[in-house]
Amino acid sequence: VLRDMSTLPRVYVTRQIPPEGLKILQDSGQVQFELWDSDDVPVPRKELLQKVKGVDGLLCVLTEKIDAELLDAAGSNLKVVSTMSVGFDHLSLEELKKRGIRVGYTPEVLTDAVAELTVALLLATSRRLIEATHEAKIGGWGTWRTLWLCGYELANSTVGILGLGRIGVAIAERLAPFKVKKFIYTDVAPRPELAKAINAEYVTLDELAKQSDFLSICCALTPDTKEICNKNLFSKMKNTSIFINTSRGGVVNQEDLYEALSTGQIAGAGLDVTVPEPLPTTHPLFTLKNCVILPHIASASYSTRNAMSALAANNLLLGLRSQPMIKELKL
Ligand code: DGY
Repeated sequence: VLRDMSTLPRVYVTRQIPPEGLKILQDSGQVQFELWDSDDVPVPRKELLQKVKGVDGLLCVLTEKIDAELLDAAGSNLKVVSTMSVGFDHLSLEELKKRGIRVGYTPEVLTDAVAELTVALLLATSRRLIEATHEAKIGGWGTWRTLWLCGYELANSTVGILGLGRIGVAIAERLAPFKVKKFIYTDVAPRPELAKAINAEYVTLDELAKQSDFLSICCALTPDTKEICNKNLFSKMKNTSIFINTSRGGVVNQEDLYEALSTGQIAGAGLDVTVPEPLPTTHPLFTLKNCVILPHIASASYSTRNAMSALAANNLLLGLRSQPMIKELKL
C-alpha cells in the first residue's frame, strides 16, 4: 500500500547521523524528513533557518544553536527538538519552554565511552604520552635517562571531580583500580547516593582545587559553571596537579589555563573540549608541551555514536506521537 507521505509530520535532521538512527526514522513510516547530507561541515545557519520553516520536529547535534531566532524561523508547528547529545548548552531552554516545545537528549548511552576516553586522556597527559611518542619519532630518544619524561601516577593520589553525575562516577569507577587513595568531589550540593558508589567525600570548590592531584571536570555548562575553572581555581592547585576537561570548553577560562600551564602553576592539562571548536591551530595552548588537546571525541566510539543516533531518533518519534520520550529534558 502506498501512503501519501506528504501528509506525515515534517522533520529536519541537521546532520548525516550514524546509520542506526537514520534507519529508525526511515523505517518508522511516521515522518517525512529532510537531511543536511554531510558529516564534514555543519549546515550553514542561513540554510538551517530556511530548512526549519514549518517543520514539526528537529533532530540536531551540538553545533546548532537552537535559540529564539531559529524557533521563530521554524514557526508554530515545531513540537519536538531532539538533540543527539547529552549536553544541552546549545539549546535555549527558556525559549523552548515558552513555546511548549519538548526536548529529547541522549544521556547514559555515552557514559561508558566518555569515561573511558577521560581515563585515556588523563593517562596520556599525566604520563606525557604525546610528548613521548613525538620525542621517539624525532630523534629525541638518547640514552635511557633517570628523570626524562617523568610524570605523575595515579597510585596513592587524590582524584577530584567537579560535578558528580553519571559520568563522574563512571570515571572514578575506572580509576579506582589504579590504586587511587581518595576521591573527592564538589557540586551545588552533596550527592550522597552517587558518592557512596565511589566512596567520594564532598568538599568545597576551594578544597577540591587544593587537594586534587588529578582534577576531572564533569559538570554541565550553565551560567553558574561558565569559566568556573579560572585563575582563582588554578592558583589553589598544586604545581604537580593534572587538570582534565571532558565536559564543555566554556567551563574554563582558557587565558587563565594557559597562564597556569606556562608558568608551572599546574603540571598539565588534557582537554577534549575548547572554546571555540575547532580550536584554531594558532592558539597558544597548542604551543604547550604540557597540554594535550583532543578534538571533542569523548563519545566517539561506533557503538556509542550509533546508540546516540538511535536514541535521538526514538525520542523524536515518541515526542511527535505525544508520548513520553525515552530521555526527555524536564523544562
Ligand atoms: C555530548 O553528547 O554532549 C558530547 O559532548 C558529545 O557526545
